[in-house]
Amino acid sequence: MQYQDVVELAKRRGIFWPSFEIYNGLSGFYDYGPIGSLIKDNIISVWKHIFIDLEHMAPIDSPNINPQEVLDASGHTKVFTDYITYCERCGEAYRADELIKKKLPDYEFTSYDDMVKKIEHLGIRCEKCGGPLTKPEKFNLMLSTKIGPGKGKLSYLRPETAQGIFINFPPYLRYFREKLPFGVVQVGKGFRNEISPRQSLLRLREFNMAEAEVFFDPENIVWNGFFNDMMSLRVRLLTNRGEDVEITLGEAMERGIIKQQPIAYFIGLTYRFLKNIGMDTGRIRFRQHHPEELAHYSKDCWDCEVETSNGWIEVTGIADRNQYDIRQHIEHSGADLYFLKKLNIPRKIKVKRYRALDTKFKEIFGKDWEKAKRYLESLDVNIKNPVFQGKLIPEDAYSVVEIEEEEEFSKEIAWVIEPSFGIDRIILSLLEHSLYAREGTGYKVLKLKPHISPFKVAVLPLMSKDGLDDEAMRIERMLREENFTVYYDESGSIGKRYARADEIGVPYCITVDYQTLKDGTVTLRERDSTSQERIRKEDLPDRLRRLINRCITTI
Ligand code: ATP
Ligand code: GLY
Repeated sequence: MQYQDVVELAKRRGIFWPSFEIYNGLSGFYDYGPIGSLIKDNIISVWKHIFIDLEHMAPIDSPNINPQEVLDASGHTKVFTDYITYCERCGEAYRADELIKKKLPDYEFTSYDDMVKKIEHLGIRCEKCGGPLTKPEKFNLMLSTKIGPGKGKLSYLRPETAQGIFINFPPYLRYFREKLPFGVVQVGKGFRNEISPRQSLLRLREFNMAEAEVFFDPENIVWNGFFNDMMSLRVRLLTNRGEDVEITLGEAMERGIIKQQPIAYFIGLTYRFLKNIGMDTGRIRFRQHHPEELAHYSKDCWDCEVETSNGWIEVTGIADRNQYDIRQHIEHSGADLYFLKKLNIPRKIKVKRYRALDTKFKEIFGKDWEKAKRYLESLDVNIKNPVFQGKLIPEDAYSVVEIEEEEEFSKEIAWVIEPSFGIDRIILSLLEHSLYAREGTGYKVLKLKPHISPFKVAVLPLMSKDGLDDEAMRIERMLREENFTVYYDESGSIGKRYARADEIGVPYCITVDYQTLKDGTVTLRERDSTSQERIRKEDLPDRLRRLINRCITTI
């Protein structure tokens, strides 16, 4: 089905809708309703299960608002921009590359001049009034705010969750007992003042991100002992040299298409995550960025794209952020964000040290002279005017000498690979991949997997009288106590109720009828096949659990 069908269903059934509608709405903001919130939470649960439980990464939660210093250091205040163009006649604003993409779907930014030429050659004009467009200029995508009273402190709503992770590197290093590699994850909001928000959840100004920052030793970029298992996974790769191949990750590494082990691993993990939540794997590909397209912090990047009626859309970026962010924060804050690397062979280094003159020390410190000597010789020579026991050590009592020492550890900056997931785009494409019209009736069915579905089971009394409703409510209660999320519906005909449950993805329906009152059995109906069987109500929890577990693809 098409994007429009998803939007219609989403609004009608409370999956998502435009925010602030009673005040005419605000472009780029969407609410998740009761059904959408449950679906979102289920998708995030799978993501967390993979990244936190299976990959042993550490979850964190840092503020949405970042002071200017953080984003100056990360480079966002200077270079986190898109190109904007305005209509000279009516003032309407457009994101320049997206105007081109509408005419050339495969267009990717390569250079400013090329972009300007394309706009001219394609005769692109204002979509509203047909007026000519201004030369594109850079537009910073961050939303600013002021913190505190008076003039306040200039701050920004975070454009990514990642910076909250980078700036706290030392406590994570301690948490992982000073050993690399390790990963830290954050699920939270990102904010971008997008020039042209569009297609509901596709381009929002406030959106949900799930990001993992994986820290490595730069000379030993290895992630995870399960790497070899992942290498047999087949994926579709589009390289920045124009190749479009379907190969195993192992072959991609051997042929040098993917250069780094963790990038290959996280491409595989992204594919498995999307497959697990029910994305159509025939419509998933990984596209490598062209060098000109790379973000300012990135040396290599592979976008996971999913095909929808809006074309191929990026749902995840897997970027080699190298040492960029940590280095920037070291330079801007002066903080020690290094890790200590044990050297295989201790190396000899030349260092400057204080050397005490024994005769002078004996004169000044008497019986404590050796203590004073040890103290001075352990000091960093950058500490000027040394003092011992409150006495200034005079300059003629020591000298500075250069000596050779053995160093066992070196200070290094960790390397970072970042898989960054856009949860809203994942939801939108999953809904489109899952929605179909039932043959015969034409009713919409959302074939969500049971673990993603907002409810695992619907309980429907055939009639809301003769005690059928009371019995149905007892069964509903029993299933809730067994930890199933249950959808209860007693209005309208049974056919309508099946249809209502189908279109929000409920995988199983239980109907309580007159026979239930006689022999304690109910009908259990499966959503996609519509097949029905009669089953004793006390067998329901076990039966449902088995059916649901069977549908959950392992990672
Ligand atoms: P695009 O090129 O579409 O603007 P991006 O390359 O800027 O996206 P990233 O910076 O890599 O996106 O962000 C990581 C992920 O966050 C993306 O893969 C996407 O799924 C999601 N994302 C980014 N911007 C938005 C947005 N405005 N609305 C919804 N999701 C977004
Ligand atoms: N953290 C990835 C991005 O914002 O681009």
